[in-house]
Amino acid sequence: MKKTPPIMSFRNPIITQSLVNSVIEQSSSRMYGIHGLTHWMRVERNGHYLAEHNAADRDVISLFALFHDARRVNDNCDPGHGKRGAELAKKLYKDGFLPISAEQLSTLVTACNYHTEQPFTEDPTIACCWDADRLDLPRVGIRTNPNRLNTEAAKQIAASGDYTCLKNTAQGRRKYLDCQKVKHESRPSGLFAYG
Ligand SMILES: [Fe+2]
Ligand SMILES: [Fe+2]
Repeated sequence: MKKTPPIMSFRNPIITQSLVNSVIEQSSSRMYGIHGLTHWMRVERNGHYLAEHNAADRDVISLFALFHDARRVNDNCDPGHGKRGAELAKKLYKDGFLPISAEQLSTLVTACNYHTEQPFTEDPTIACCWDADRLDLPRVGIRTNPNRLNTEAAKQIAASGDYTCLKNTAQGRRKYLDCQKVKHESRPSGLFAYG
């Protein structure tokens, strides 16, 4: 039995304990690596910050955070991990774990499928998902390239190098979400640019 994370770590109540448990049971065993659980939480935090500045779907953002790296098998390029995460989302949707519409599921699947392969999108929700993921690159000592971002809010953060606005949220102030204090994470040997 895999270790169950604290449900309070996620912002959106759409992410229930049973959903988290189901994802973890069907994810790789790497949930405590650099692309693991604490990364997922910060992606949600970052995405919700960006949603304050964009007309984005927060439920899809939260679910992207949960699924996009859930089926990684390594911390390098890992081709296809986005599509595997999307397949898991579709399975759990079919099983009744995701209280979202078919249209929301379609957006979630697209966001997961292409999050490492495609830098830009016209969809504001997917833009927030992808930028939220890339704004977490400083966890491994890499400054996010503003030219690889979609939203103005994310570009401003990356261009300034000042990420404090992401932490100055109710969730961001939680100690365990501060990327500077995540002790189990370390820089991988072959880091992929998009996360
Ligand atoms: Fe990824
Ligand atoms: Fe990621």
